[in-house]
Amino acid sequence: MSEDLIEIGKKNAAFKAVEENVKKGMILGIGSGSTVVYAIKRIAEINKAEDLNLKCIPTSFQSRQLIVENGLTLVTLDQYPEIDLDIDGADEIDKELNLIKGGGGCLVQEKIVANSSKKLVIIADYRKKSEKLGENWNKGVPIEVIPFGYVPILKKLEKLGGTPKLRMAQAKAGPLVTDNGNFIIDVDFGLIESPSDMNDKLLKIPGVVDTGFFIGMTSKAYIGQKDGKVIVL
Ligand code: A5P
Repeated sequence: MSEDLIEIGKKNAAFKAVEENVKKGMILGIGSGSTVVYAIKRIAEINKAEDLNLKCIPTSFQSRQLIVENGLTLVTLDQYPEIDLDIDGADEIDKELNLIKGGGGCLVQEKIVANSSKKLVIIADYRKKSEKLGENWNKGVPIEVIPFGYVPILKKLEKLGGTPKLRMAQAKAGPLVTDNGNFIIDVDFGLIESPSDMNDKLLKIPGVVDTGFFIGMTSKAYIGQKDGKVIVL
């Protein structure tokens, strides 16, 4: 039952965000994760029905596949470095619309695309909304690192007060390898009082490619509720 409510929340948020923000001729960034699957289906429907001539830039291998499978036009960031609108999911959203992302391991390309977009619209179900980051998302902040440096990086993360864990692959022995050939370390910092300060500290560690903190990037967040409504923040 609650599984159904989660899926309904994701779908409603995704559909509303697409219907209110996607316009004819846009260059779109397409995020990654399970909520984006609903968004891309709706984008494909309206693109066809209303002849919108949309062009889509992926943020991961998964999103590239979704663009192609749904019959949308795949273009590259090299061709279109200025994106009109990026639609993506999130693992947690705080009251200032700062995010934790990377639960699906795709944060680096997601952040590049978000940063190249005029507008970042986040879609999520009701489980993702928190006052402060670290409140509801308890799997840790994902950090993408260069494999060569992962052991010293683990030590530095402990010194910063975190509990870091190398993310392991699901159906393969050994670590998860990202779309960029790197590793992910998930670091539990408990409740995060200042995501911006923590982000700065993490980015100073040599070998850290980027973090799952998306600070001050979100234009709007669509949160699908249990009762079928969608709150727009
Ligand atoms: C992918 O690495 C993430 O940043 C996703 O955007 C995030 O994990 C949200 O995914 P779901 O839509 O599956 O919750």
